[in-house]
Amino acid sequence: MYEGIGSIDVLKSADPDVYAAIEAEETRQRDKLLLIASENFASPAVLAAQGSVLTNKYAEGYPGRRYYGGCEHADTVEDLAIQRCKEIFGAEHVNVQPHSGSQANMAAYLSVLKPGDTILGMDLAQGGHLTHGSKVNFSGILFRVFSYGVDRQTETIDYDAVQKAAEECRPRYARVLDFPRFQAIAKSVGAYLLVDIAHIAGLIAAGLHPNPVPYADFVTTTTHKTLRGPRGGVTMCKAEYAKGVDKLVFPGLQGGPLMHVIAAKAVAFKEALSPSFKRYQQQVLTNAKALAQGLMDHGYKIVSGGTDTHLMLVNLSNKGITGKDADAALDAAGIILNKNAVPYDEKPPAVASGIRLGSPIVSTRGMREPEMKHIVKLVDRVLQHPQEPAVLEEVRLEAKALCNRFPIFHSY
Ligand SMILES: Cc1ncc(COP(=O)(O)O)c(C=O)c1O
Repeated sequence: MYEGIGSIDVLKSADPDVYAAIEAEETRQRDKLLLIASENFASPAVLAAQGSVLTNKYAEGYPGRRYYGGCEHADTVEDLAIQRCKEIFGAEHVNVQPHSGSQANMAAYLSVLKPGDTILGMDLAQGGHLTHGSKVNFSGILFRVFSYGVDRQTETIDYDAVQKAAEECRPRYARVLDFPRFQAIAKSVGAYLLVDIAHIAGLIAAGLHPNPVPYADFVTTTTHKTLRGPRGGVTMCKAEYAKGVDKLVFPGLQGGPLMHVIAAKAVAFKEALSPSFKRYQQQVLTNAKALAQGLMDHGYKIVSGGTDTHLMLVNLSNKGITGKDADAALDAAGIILNKNAVPYDEKPPAVASGIRLGSPIVSTRGMREPEMKHIVKLVDRVLQHPQEPAVLEEVRLEAKALCNRFPIFHSY
């Protein structure tokens, strides 16, 4: 290995400006309470693989079928990533090359659809992602989009309404939660079924959420959310779509795969197969429930009345504060989360009536239920006094002290 490989100290003398920014980011991650549901802290082993010499290698193609010489070690890591991912999710075919979740979705869509075809996806304003048909995204630009949302009363998916929407638009695509039900809906109108598990992949890997793989034609995920790997995507599919997906990822959408990221995906998948990962995911769920219950005990309204996963959406309309102002006040107090539209929100998305909280990072640090109670108290204190700098500063110091009692990466 060449000198100083993967060491941040090498950067310190080579590029003090970038080093300083990275160091400041590390301090931010260490000292603030991070409740963004879609983020996580990757393990030191994942970071090491991602910072490795594999970034130097071009490996266009697939293991055993590359367009460049010298790919034997690239083949090893990609094969490991594929095998481990198959073992986790039981997929017939896995492509670990998508650079991101968006590209993982794009590959799945375009492997069976043509521009102008119809898709039915969950509305962005009600829980879907940009790539599920938003007008400003390739999915909304290329396809004829129909959307479904949640029921106004229960704030959960009304599957009869989805069935009706599917019959009206006859899509060749849909997105899911109750997997057998979505499979039945998709089948009844001759649609393909794609399940995007970007958020819940870690819970599924740990067996704590139903696995859509047996029911769906395509399953896509990011690897950096609950799954706690490097930033990236994966497209899984039934064997019959394997060729189409592989052709779409490369050469259709991408050039050379990011081999250092694929190595880091392989490491993360190994971690996801371990008993300690299951214990971690269990704590993610327990902590999310504790956060939701604590907030409800303080009079906050949780959309749909609770959570079964790692995240929750808080409707602040009864608290006299917008999502935007809540987000800003909490940020000033060292509590980082995101404003979020609530179902049927009357405020524009840039203001929004809600905030979204997630437990993946605080759980990675080893925090448990007592800390969740503490976090709820801090959040509540800020939201009661969003305009009082003294309170925000007090909470910032308390949040920092709480964070500093925990490592960045706890071993479960
Ligand atoms: C459900 C879902 N799908 C896809 C994506 C896209 O992932 P990426 O940001 O890696 O493109 C996200 C990211 O937030 C997501 O939440």
